[in-house]
Formats: sequence, C-alpha cells, structure tokens
Amino acid sequence: MKNEEYPPSEDTFFIANNIENEQGQYALDIGSGSGYLTKLLSKNFSFVVGTDINCNVLQHQTSYKTNNLICCNGSDALNIKFDFIVCNLPYLATDEILDIATDGGAEGFEIPKKIFDSAQKNLKTDGKFVFVTSSLSNYEKLIDYVQKLGLKPQIIAKKKLFFEELILVEARN
Ligand SMILES: C[S@@+](CC[C@H](N)C(=O)[O-])C[C@H]1O[C@@H](n2cnc3c(N)ncnc32)[C@H](O)[C@@H]1O
Repeated sequence: MKNEEYPPSEDTFFIANNIENEQGQYALDIGSGSGYLTKLLSKNFSFVVGTDINCNVLQHQTSYKTNNLICCNGSDALNIKFDFIVCNLPYLATDEILDIATDGGAEGFEIPKKIFDSAQKNLKTDGKFVFVTSSLSNYEKLIDYVQKLGLKPQIIAKKKLFFEELILVEARN
C-alpha cells in the first residue's frame, strides 16, 4: 500500500479558499497530511488538532508543521468537542485501498463513512463540519449518510476540474 504524503493540491486549495475566514476556539483537521489546512486553521482558532491515520506522514511534516498531531482513524482518539471540523477526504471510488491518501473504497463511501462515524461525537452542538467529495464518488450517498447521522448537510461550493467536479459540503449539527 502506498502511504506517502499527499502534497497540497487542487482540492486542498479549494477547501482553503472556502474556510479561510472561519474562526473560533477549537478546530480539527481530519487527515491532516502535509498540515496545510491544519496550519491555516491555526491562524483563526485558538486550539487546533490534526489527525491522520498515516503516522509516518505526521512524523515528517515539514513546511506546514503544527502542534497537536494525533495518529488515529478519524478522531477516534479525541474526546474534545470542536466548533469546526474539516476533512479533505480520501474520496475516490476504488475497489481496493491502495493509496490511503486518495482511495475511498467502494463508491468512495467506505472510508468517508468511517471518518464520519468517528467525527460525529466531536462536533459541538452548534458546530460545523466541512468536507470535500467529488463527482468521481457516490457523493449523494455520502450526503444522505451524513443526514442519517442527524447532521444538516448542504453543498456550499463546487469546482470543475479537467476530469472531475469537486464538491464542498458543510454539515451542521
Ligand atoms: C486527500 S489527503 C488530504 C491531506 C491534506 N489534508 C490536504 O488537504 O492536502 C487525505 C488524508 O487523509 C488521511 N486519511 C485516510 N484515511 C484516514 C482515516 N480513516 N482517518 C484519518 N485520516 C485518514 C490520509 O493519510 C491523507 O493524509
């Protein structure tokens, strides 16, 4: 299995442009990777945590290094309620998980589901969870699932790329 760092990419910048004005006390970046979004959140939130299932990537963050990095699935290891949670999901629909940075498993739903199941407990009552998905996955199924968890999702931005459309979803408690 490939487990290299995912460099800041189109989807990272798409999310960054849409969340740069978010502010508050506690923020969480699930799938921190290079730390680009975690670092961005550190400007406007007083306490920021980044998690990633890839411990190696967290240990070797360089350009966007932050404190409070935890290696776990989703936010399994955390018992804090956050005002804001962001996740650049591994959303690609794939038969197998060959690259944990991008592969979302069946319909691009399997891994995102695991992340949502984990993160739900960490969102404050009036908190906001922003995640990116894509036309290359069954994003409707994902949005339906978020609704089943009791959150109120809405698509807040879309971006057409050459081979896919990125879809940014905001889910509120
Ligand atoms: C698309 S990359 C995004 C990296 C970075 N946040 C960015 O926006 O450039 C997805 C990240 O999620 C991590 N990841 C995959 N499955 C995960 C899981 N179940 N729990 C936590 N992190 C996970 C990957 O290791 C990878 O670093």
